Amino acid sequence: MESPFKSDILKGRVALVTGGSSGIGFEIARQLGLHGARLGISGRRQDVLDAAVAALKAEGVTAMGLQGDVRSSDACEGWVAALGAAWGPALDVLVNCAAGNFLATSEELSVNGFKTVMEIDAVGTFTMSRAAFPALKQSTCRHGACITNISATLQYGATWWQAHASAAKSAVDSLTRSLALEWGEFNVRVNGVAPGPIDGTAGMTKLAPGAKELVQSTIPLRGEMGRKWDIAMMCLFLASPAAAFVSGDTLVVDGANWMWKPRLVERGQVSRASRNVEGKSRAVGTAAGQAAPAAKPRSKL
Ligand code: COA
Repeated sequence: MESPFKSDILKGRVALVTGGSSGIGFEIARQLGLHGARLGISGRRQDVLDAAVAALKAEGVTAMGLQGDVRSSDACEGWVAALGAAWGPALDVLVNCAAGNFLATSEELSVNGFKTVMEIDAVGTFTMSRAAFPALKQSTCRHGACITNISATLQYGATWWQAHASAAKSAVDSLTRSLALEWGEFNVRVNGVAPGPIDGTAGMTKLAPGAKELVQSTIPLRGEMGRKWDIAMMCLFLASPAAAFVSGDTLVVDGANWMWKPRLVERGQVSRASRNVEGKSRAVGTAAGQAAPAAKPRSKL
């Protein structure tokens, strides 16, 4: 996919992506790097991290692997220090993408299981942001240093078997707003990106095994899943001058999936059904005087 952004839009900038060694985090890091940023990517598994750094370097991206866990404030502070030692004290972009999730019924989920996801997603986002703040304050970006928290849509309403991750992502969204409020005066913008179903991710494998078609039938936009690229482009937008006045918001990138509801009446029946209820059974045309076209059936849900 060709990027709509100029390839040097982040030239001279330093970015840190937690959970950047695989999945959506890797694609976010890759796109930030392909647009000029020098990158630190964090991950827990050294071998995965090494492979990711090698892949980035092969594409001409300047990247550094940062091994460790966002649950450790020492690790987070150490990553910021390592980037500072290599490329100077300022950090321009932080993407909090490290997360954990699995399916579990609430009655079977242990308290430690609940806490683990809260600690990675919610506490980890706070810990990393807090550790990065002194460096973010030193960014010379006129449009502001930027934190982007990767959230989700499962906490809008509720999602089956994900009480832990829903609670954690609600906390992340709240943190996005609180930090935007508190750190705006330091020219640090804080936003979120909430991906919907994204093809080829651990999320789909772990959270919706064997349910690809069912998931697609609940995505209003084209009935297609998103791509990792879609999430990366939104992160790039938030890091760009185009988002200079955007802070405290979480942008949903899900093809309108989270608000999906089953349709009770098919499109072609709507005009007739509506008029019949009002006691007027005459056919109703469109503005051009034509009968409403039949919709292409996509889902029986
Ligand atoms: N179902 C129920 N409970 C689970 C579980 C599952 N699938 N996986 C882990 N847990 C519980 C464990 O039983 C443990 O609780 P306990 O001590 O009461 O038994 C607790 O969660 C911690 O598990 P542990 O394996 O020690 O955690 P970890 O820190 O090594 O791993 C996870 C963190 C559990 C989130 C792991 O899935 C992970 O590393 N995920 C990263 C990748 C990921 O999930 N990305 C998001 C994809 S949507």
